Amino acid sequence: MLGARESIHGQWSSRYAFILAATGAAVGLGNIWKFPYIMGENGGGAFVLVYLLCIVLIGIPVMMSEVLIGRRGRQSPGLSVKTLAQEANASTRWQIAGWSGLVASYLILSFYAVVAGWALAYVFKTARGDFSDVSADAIGAQFGAHLADPWLLMTWSAVILFVTVFVVAKGVHKGLEKAVNFLMPSLFVLLAIMAIYSGMNGAFGEAAEFMFKPDFSKLTINGVLLALGHAFFTLSLASGAMIIYGAYLPANVSIAKTSMLIALVDTCVAIVAGLAIYPLVFQYGLTPSEGPGLIFVTLPIAFGSMPFGTLFGTLFFVMLVFAAFTSAIAMIESTVAWLVERKGLSRLMATVTTGGSLWLVGLLTVFSFSGAGWATFTITIFGKTLSSYFEVVDYLTSAIMLPLGGLAVAIFVGWTMKRKVTVEELNTSALAYGIWRFAIRWFTPIAVAVVFLHLIGVLDG
Ligand code: PFF
Ligand code: NA
Repeated sequence: MLGARESIHGQWSSRYAFILAATGAAVGLGNIWKFPYIMGENGGGAFVLVYLLCIVLIGIPVMMSEVLIGRRGRQSPGLSVKTLAQEANASTRWQIAGWSGLVASYLILSFYAVVAGWALAYVFKTARGDFSDVSADAIGAQFGAHLADPWLLMTWSAVILFVTVFVVAKGVHKGLEKAVNFLMPSLFVLLAIMAIYSGMNGAFGEAAEFMFKPDFSKLTINGVLLALGHAFFTLSLASGAMIIYGAYLPANVSIAKTSMLIALVDTCVAIVAGLAIYPLVFQYGLTPSEGPGLIFVTLPIAFGSMPFGTLFGTLFFVMLVFAAFTSAIAMIESTVAWLVERKGLSRLMATVTTGGSLWLVGLLTVFSFSGAGWATFTITIFGKTLSSYFEVVDYLTSAIMLPLGGLAVAIFVGWTMKRKVTVEELNTSALAYGIWRFAIRWFTPIAVAVVFLHLIGVLDG
């Protein structure tokens, strides 16, 4: 029965191709841009600890579940879940677990492309030597000036989306596989060198203490929710991506092993990124709670002063863009697959339409950072004050949609799908299966529920 269904969009050529693509989806701005700044906004060590626990106890089991759904269903996320629900004689309402991922990844990409555009602009700024021998303050001011120019932001995000559309339109084999092979390891090496450089030249001790010494008095319930949500975000869970990539996975590949490998790589990249940034933050008296600009105002300081900094910094931003780009591909893929399956569009039309509409929605993010208050306002959700469209869409997706989507996936796979089917797909040792099943049936639902109950004030928080 295993692998009986086939995907109309094709298949990965090997286990290795899947690992590359799924790691490409996982490693991105989430690790290098977002993780460092939200860690800083939420007090450091305690946040990191909760995040790591969420990766291991919730992220890996949910990732296994999503890949399993995809490989069994062999269609875009919503339709895969629907098919499997029908097979389990359960309500087809479960398909919402897949559709919410599709919507979440669409919304995420609308701002992700804008931020990737910042990184792309910084390739050229670094290459042209904008940061050489410039003070830390001036580097901060340069970032401010960049954000204040909506035309720049619109142009660069258009470039990002254009290239994404171009690659995705070419299809699974030709487009997605080739790209990831060599730039991902290079990014990791550059990041490690950065960490060593800033460790040696910056305030390493303070940084290590900030990141690894948990101070739970600094962690709010919202911080816990953000750590949970970021575990989903960084692994590309509850976003359709792992379901759709699982749909292209050959039948004989071990889902458990590959999921653990992907999570391990993703986590290492995030931690090393933190180690590259925080020694500089403390050395130059910047604040950890700097926000979304954190890497754009810290790393250029190092690039401006280190030997071969211009070359090095340029390469770094090239690879950051590349990492963002392999994630963007994963985010757009489920919408495209669905338009092809159900709306009868050609792959080219589907990608062009999706990419174009994303650019328009992305304008709201652009004007969250510039444009005289066009997309800025103040709203409080669950006791968290948000002050722009960008902050709202980020919170809505990462903190709310992803954890709830992950909850739905966990309950569906753990309680609704037949045990026999999951045993067959995971095809792993009895012990590993038992741990996974416990995590999916009990741990994940209870943990997510407890966090949300605290948040809405049902439990004391
Ligand atoms: N995991 C990506 C990152 O950490 O940058 C972001 C992401 C990719 C989220 C794909 C969702 C997704 F479907
Ligand atoms: Na990630």
